[in-house]
Amino acid sequence: MNIPKIQWYPGHIAKAEKKLSEVIKKVDLIIEVRDARIPLSTGHPHLNKWIKNKKHILVINKSDMISQNTMASWNKWFKEKGQDPLWCDAKRGIGIKEVCISAKDSRLSIDNRRLSRGMKIRPIRALTLGFPNVGKSALINRIANKRVVESARKAGVTRNLRWIKIDSGIDLLDAPGVIPPNLEDQRSALNLAICDDIGEAAYEIESVAIEFINIFSKLVDNKNANISAHKISERYGVDILKGFKNPSNWIDDAASKHTSGDRRRMAYKLLEDYRNQFLGKISLEVPKWN
Ligand code: G4P
Repeated sequence: MNIPKIQWYPGHIAKAEKKLSEVIKKVDLIIEVRDARIPLSTGHPHLNKWIKNKKHILVINKSDMISQNTMASWNKWFKEKGQDPLWCDAKRGIGIKEVCISAKDSRLSIDNRRLSRGMKIRPIRALTLGFPNVGKSALINRIANKRVVESARKAGVTRNLRWIKIDSGIDLLDAPGVIPPNLEDQRSALNLAICDDIGEAAYEIESVAIEFINIFSKLVDNKNANISAHKISERYGVDILKGFKNPSNWIDDAASKHTSGDRRRMAYKLLEDYRNQFLGKISLEVPKWN
């Protein structure tokens, strides 16, 4: 695999890391949000170090973008690893109740710990954390049951941390924590770029589209990826099975049909079609049992 170089702007990484470390210090509970299409690439290897002994809820969002069977397989996989993910569709408000119940459980356990140490109980503070675009703001708005994130941005109050009461005893930070991409792992960065979960990054769109087709060719026989080669071939009028042998030629052929021969625009169209679910509920990562 010839992974194209994905680069986040250095200034953005430094800014995101600084902001993140300041905010994490202030919270008791981290609600980590991942993208169901790439639940491994949207996890960060340093997360455990950052969250240390804080309470942690794993939310896998955009559950509407993968098949029910794949979700069930991932669920089994995560459970075997000792994790219990909560699946959400923050756009439509599915799975939010379960997140609130889990936050309440965390609150009770923190309260009990404080009481057992002779400390007074106080509202616990929660933060949503994840890569750009995984749906953190949508989740906050759903949990708070109103549009808090956008209004806070408009009012220009994000400099001071603002807490929203989501339940008696739980305050949620109105601004999500953004994890800077893990650029040491370029394969994950590629997945993040394909799913548009990387924020303002620099990458060469044609190379990313070529690797996207290569990923499809490797996953097409895996039922958890849920790829219909027929559907993709029909959509563009160009046989994707040929594309699996030569992705670059496939982009040329599709470009001549759809974008007046413009390869760059065709590459962008292909990725946007995937991001907008026109290619189906396709997972770019599938659970692997060793
Ligand atoms: P962020 O705070 O983590 O950066 O993400 P944000 O909530 O802004 O969501 C990023 C995009 O993902 C938004 O789309 C949002 O609507 C969409 N989204 C969030 N959760 C889900 C989900 O569970 N399923 C699906 N399918 N989409 C989700 P957008 O196109 O940027 O904005 P808009 O069209 O909603 O206005």
